[in-house]
Order: sequence, then structure tokens, then C-alpha cells
Amino acid sequence: MARVAVFGMGYVGCVTAACLAQDGHWVLGVDIDAAKISEVNSGIPPISEPHLDELLSDQVKAGRLRATADVAAAVAETELALIAVGTPSGDDGSVSISGVERVVRSVGEALKAASKPYRVVIRSTLLPGILEDRLRPTLEKAVGRSLGPDFGLCNNPEFLRESSAVKDYYQPPYVLVGADSPEDAAAVLELYNKVQAEKHVTDTRTAALVKYACNAFHALKVSFANEIGSLAKALGADGHAVMDLVCKDRKLNVSAAYLRPGFAFGGSCLPKDLRALNRYAEQQALRLSLLASILPSNESHLKRALKLIRDTGRRRIGVVGLSFKAGTDDLRESPMVELVETLIGWGCDVKIFDPNVMLTRLRGRNLAYIDQHLPHLANLLIPKPMLLLSHAELLVLCTDAASEYDWQGQFSGSIIDLRKDLVQGKTPKATLVSSAIPSES
Ligand SMILES: NC(=O)c1ccc[n+]([C@@H]2O[C@H](COP(=O)([O-])OP(=O)(O)OC[C@H]3O[C@@H](n4cnc5c(N)ncnc54)[C@H](O)[C@@H]3O)[C@@H](O)[C@H]2O)c1
Repeated sequence: MARVAVFGMGYVGCVTAACLAQDGHWVLGVDIDAAKISEVNSGIPPISEPHLDELLSDQVKAGRLRATADVAAAVAETELALIAVGTPSGDDGSVSISGVERVVRSVGEALKAASKPYRVVIRSTLLPGILEDRLRPTLEKAVGRSLGPDFGLCNNPEFLRESSAVKDYYQPPYVLVGADSPEDAAAVLELYNKVQAEKHVTDTRTAALVKYACNAFHALKVSFANEIGSLAKALGADGHAVMDLVCKDRKLNVSAAYLRPGFAFGGSCLPKDLRALNRYAEQQALRLSLLASILPSNESHLKRALKLIRDTGRRRIGVVGLSFKAGTDDLRESPMVELVETLIGWGCDVKIFDPNVMLTRLRGRNLAYIDQHLPHLANLLIPKPMLLLSHAELLVLCTDAASEYDWQGQFSGSIIDLRKDLVQGKTPKATLVSSAIPSES
């Protein structure tokens, strides 16, 4: 069992400290607020949270949990610090890190004196880059040595919700550790041996962003439901019934479908139907800013792709995949059609390979769309991948139509893969360490 200092006896710190103690670890809570320290030491939680009163009081009585303001003593008595102090918004909306920085510095100074193996784990919510570019130098400077196998800095974002925090601690979606060394990851995961949940280890930047992505997604869901509800009211439909049925579709709606970042959406339905909803809302003077932002967001993503291509400086371009997704020849509102249109407008020499698109078989609105947007498509389409390879100095892979050929193996020029190159930083390091199905309770 570990000896842990938990910095910050607020919502996250208090619940984490009490649960760690219940799981057999020896825990020292650290706070700058004397009243909170005194309450914890009297067995009273300084926050109101279901099930926490008894839990905390039992752990204090059992001698596994107490609180202090003495950072040096806390570091001397423990092997790992979990930092859970607040990270509020600054006046400009940026994340304020002064509290976390102060704690990291004071832990570092205490550690310099103690000179022993130690790990500092950030549980507070911080944007990627803060741990790596701000906290790491602060900690290393204070301690007077660089991070290494027995001196670590990593993160462990928290997913609890106030009002069900204790339950969420034991039944999280997963335990997530961001660590650049296996030793750090193992030390943090050991804290959660009794938590039955999947355990994931990623690099620190990915872990930090997962927390923000989750919160942004939750906020997005609430606003989406409210905007659909407002539309329902205006249109004389039942908003609750609409969203109940939307949520019953576990195949496409409440599922991982459409949640893999890549390239822009298009096709004959999504843009058209979004336009119809937004036009109706406008006519009703109904401000649905979220729904109104979706097509501009998609357009911005397309512009980022164009910039990526322009920045290569290459003019002879081979595009793989023209229809809006692999397996169809529907070109209506395909973002690739707009991409090619723009590249041609820039004077690029573009050729296209798409095994699904045969000009002689295009009919109706599909044909009319392409006549309007790429009237010279016949001169651009290439029937065989090899011909594209001999034409291009840059290949742009757009859809899964590209998966059928080994472009990387056969092409020596540059390749941009729009399915990943707009959304991936460095090579991600995400691992499922162990998988346990959370028990029902
Ligand atoms: N509240 C939540 O539901 C929740 C959930 C997940 C993640 N988070 C994140 O966890 C972090 C903490 O949130 P919270 O709601 O528990 O904060 P909080 O404001 O409730 O508690 C922060 C505590 O830190 C203490 N503190 C401040 N400076 C300190 C210092 N130098 N040394 C020791 N203690 C110090 C404060 O006195 C306070 O008790 C934030 O980054 C937050 O975004 C919060």
C-alpha cells in the first residue's frame, strides 16, 4: 500500500483522499485552509457529498487519513503527491495555474531537502503543455535535479461528478494515467488496484486533453439537446420524445460512430438538412448557435486541409477518393470536390483516383452537381493507381477508398492522409493496461 499526500482538500482532493484511505493507503491531506484541515482531522468533510461523511470519519478514526498545512512534513512522510488544487478560469478564460505551480514548487523544495524517490501526480484539470512546459521546469528547478526513474511527474485526470463523487470514484469510465515512464504509470495505477475499471496509460498531453474533451462533449450534449428541444417546441413536436428516440439509436447516435476525428463531412444529406434547420430557426428568430456553427466548423476543417496542402508547395497533386465517403459514387457536397475545385483554382495540376466513381455512370442530381462544380472531371479522373503515382509529387489520401492500395509502399513523394494528418500530433502512446468490467452496485 502506498503513502500518499493529497494536495487540496476540495471536492476532488477530499473524495480522492478518503477513497484512497478506504482502499488501504496511508493518506495525508494538505491544504492552505486551516479550517478545512481542522475539519478533516475531526472527521468532518469540508464539502457536502453523499456518503463522504461516514467514509471520511471512519478513515480518520482508523488512522489512515489526516490533514496538515505542513508541506515539508507531508513530503517527508509520503512517496507520492496527488495534486488536486483548483485551476479556475483567468479573466481572459485561460486556465489559471498559479495554485498548482505554487504546490509543485513547494513540493520540489521539500523534496530537495528530503532527497528521496518521489512522484508528483497532477489530478487537477490542466491543458496539455502546462505540465510539460511549465510544471516540469518548476519542479526540476526546485528539486535541483532532472526527472528520472525514481523522480516522476505525470497526470491522472479525475472523472468524478459532484453529488455522486464517491460512487464515481469506484465506478469511473476508466482510470487514466498520463505518464512518460512505465515506473510512473505503475506507481499511479497501483493506487487504484481496488477500482474495478479499465486502466489506460497515454502520454501526458493526451491524458490531459481527454479530460477537456469529455467536459466539452458533455456541455455539447446538453446544448444540442436544448437546441433540438427548442426547435421541437417551435415546430409543435415533443422535444423529450424526439431526444428519447434519438438516444435509442445506439448504432449511429449514442455510440462511437462519427466520433473519430479525420476529415470534413459532406454528402447529400447532412449539409442540406443542417441548412434547412438553420434556415427555419432564422425565420423564427430562434438563436441556435450550436446548430448554426456546425457547417462553418466543417468549412474551417476543409480550409485547414487546404493549408496543409498549400504549405507543401507541391503543384502536381494526386487525390485519392472523391466521393463523400468510400463505397459510394455520390459526389454531392463531397468536401473532396470542393478541395479539388480550390486546388485547381490555385493553378495546381490535379488528377483523381476513386475506384467508385465512373463518369459514365453518374446520373441525375449527382451528375448535375459535378457538371456545376468540376465540369472537366473527365480530364481529371485516372482509372488506375499507377497513373496517379507517375503524375503526382504530392498524394492526398481523402477517404477509405485509399485503403485498398499500398500508397506508402509505392510512392516516394510526399503523402498527406486527411484521415489523420489534421488531427494527430506526435505518435500517440495509448495503452489499455488491464481491463476489468466494473461490478454492478
Ligand atoms: N469539482 C469537480 O467535480 C471536478 C471533477 C473533476 C476534476 N476537477 C478538477 O479538479 C481540480 C480541483 O477541483 P475542486 O473542485 O476539487 O477544487 P476546490 O476549489 O473545491 O478545492 C481546491 C482546494 O485546494 C486548496 N488549495 C489551494 N491552494 C493550495 C495550496 N497551495 N496548497 C494546498 N491546497 C491548496 C484550496 O484551499 C481548496 O481546498 C480542478 O482542476 C478541477 O477542474 C474537478
